[in-house]
Amino acid sequence: MKDFDPASSFGSDVAAHYDDYARGDEEAAACFLAEFAKDGSALEFAIGTGRIALPLAAMGVQVDGIELSPHMVEKLAAKAKGTTINVIVGDMCRATTNRRYALVYLVYNTLFNLLTADDQIRCFENAARHLTQDGFFVVETALPNAWISPDKSDYVHAEHVGKETVVLDVARYDPVTQLLEENHIQFTAEGIRMSPIVCRLITPGEMDLMARIAGLRLVQRFANWQKSTFDSNSTMHVSIYGF
Ligand SMILES: C[S@@+](CC[C@H](N)C(=O)[O-])C[C@H]1O[C@@H](n2cnc3c(N)ncnc32)[C@H](O)[C@@H]1O
Repeated sequence: MKDFDPASSFGSDVAAHYDDYARGDEEAAACFLAEFAKDGSALEFAIGTGRIALPLAAMGVQVDGIELSPHMVEKLAAKAKGTTINVIVGDMCRATTNRRYALVYLVYNTLFNLLTADDQIRCFENAARHLTQDGFFVVETALPNAWISPDKSDYVHAEHVGKETVVLDVARYDPVTQLLEENHIQFTAEGIRMSPIVCRLITPGEMDLMARIAGLRLVQRFANWQKSTFDSNSTMHVSIYGF
């Protein structure tokens, strides 16, 4: 996408409206993650507005975060208990909190927000640098084939259809670069708002190889936060990596 800058895709406007539509997996994700934060500490890569970090912290886990967008961090800090979460503004491929955790996690397809294989590998390496020896890195993403297929490399998806507001997701995929160029377009009485984003889609197998490069191995993979079996009908995965 010409002139697209990943650092600006979660700017003040997107941050202001990020929590308008709940994804709905917050409680299930927090329950799952709390099990892996054995000593009570966790680091969320790309923590955003604390959608998962806040319910996880409410379960007694001390959560830190790394987040690229200062606007998303501001939104988190403005929430009740938001200031109890320490966030470093920086790139999850490189930034450090200078400590280790029982759990590092990266959810909501955000590994895909890194647009090169090198950066995706660097993200696994940075997770490994923040893990205790018996710690876990938990990654949740969609399966690329749930979003695109050879006969569906571009699409328009009705993300929200309301009386006053409609949100469409308009996307095109390039199988050579593995980049999915998307624009979330919101139509309201006030006008049209565009939220462009580019994702680099990778399969679970590619992730496992990236993990191996970072010195980690796949421990277990589920189809969702409820720990359903991962199989050929799965549309997403929750993968757990450890040393
Ligand atoms: C889909 S949101 C997910 C936020 C939060 N984890 C959640 O589940 O609601 C993606 C987030 O990733 C952040 N992000 C994108 N690239 C990043 C990077 N390289 N390092 C840190 N954060 C990044 C964005 O600013 C945004 O807040």
